[in-house]
Amino acid sequence: MSIATLTRPTASSNASSAPLLQVNHVGIDYATREGTLTAVDDVSFALHAGERLVLIGPSGSGKSTLLRAIGGFVAPTHGKILIDGAPIARPAPDRMTVFQEFDQLLPWRSALGNVRYALERGRKLSRRQAEREARDWLTRVGLGRFLDAYPHTLSGGMKQRVAIARAFALQPRLLLMDEPFAALDALTRRQMQDELLALCEETGSTALFVTHGIDEAIVVGTRILALTAHPGRLAASFTVSADDRTRGSAGFGVLERSIQQSVFDGSAAHA
Ligand SMILES: Nc1ncnc2c1ncn2[C@@H]1O[C@H](COP(=O)(O)OP(=O)(O)O)[C@@H](O)[C@H]1O
Ligand SMILES: [Mg+2]
Repeated sequence: MSIATLTRPTASSNASSAPLLQVNHVGIDYATREGTLTAVDDVSFALHAGERLVLIGPSGSGKSTLLRAIGGFVAPTHGKILIDGAPIARPAPDRMTVFQEFDQLLPWRSALGNVRYALERGRKLSRRQAEREARDWLTRVGLGRFLDAYPHTLSGGMKQRVAIARAFALQPRLLLMDEPFAALDALTRRQMQDELLALCEETGSTALFVTHGIDEAIVVGTRILALTAHPGRLAASFTVSADDRTRGSAGFGVLERSIQQSVFDGSAAHA
């Protein structure tokens, strides 16, 4: 299949259209032995189709907790999370998550088997069609020669590529990514950030990406929301233009410093 046939039309990020995702005054508490721990405190934002929103914050700022709630894996203690205006009840293939951990693949299935199985289950494709699309997506992420490889024989970066291929193949309304490159070496991480950006742009995907890396946020995002350290609250918002995204450009440097201040120095005003 050619890239053209895999490409979905780019949805407009017209702010006047109804948001795809609404996070309204969401608070998430955990019950711990020491009492109630507030991981996320009164966070609100909206995400429109075609946007790539990055949540950035230091470790413990509730990024994973918030993403898990949007994925439907945990229920918010306060507030509401809506997709197309309807509350999220449980995980569903309209929201595919790529996690940081390398163990998100089924170890008893090959790379091809992992993606094919997800397509059979999630999109109810026939085995033949699922296999064809799985093969195309794995080839697209550079794993055309590793279709029959089992996860334990793949490097961390290759496993993340399989997980990314699987997520894109399911054509979710919303791609959720929780620091998928955090455990990779710096060179691989940079290469995968660029590849992910290209895939998102080609497919017009809508994504919510979590990271603690400022450069990663600028490269992959169209908009960045900064969360304060524990408990996570929204501190600032930044819009990223196509020019800012180029590493080493003046815009990249300006954004990098503003985000650094608001996230890690805690001194910037609300943008
Ligand atoms: N299952 C859990 N039970 C209790 N506390 C948790 C649980 N998961 C996360 N936390 C706590 O919630 C806070 C936010 O965690 P997390 O969402 O993982 O932050 P981040 O992804 O930004 O590092 C942290 O203080 C963490 O220890
Ligand atoms: Mg996390």
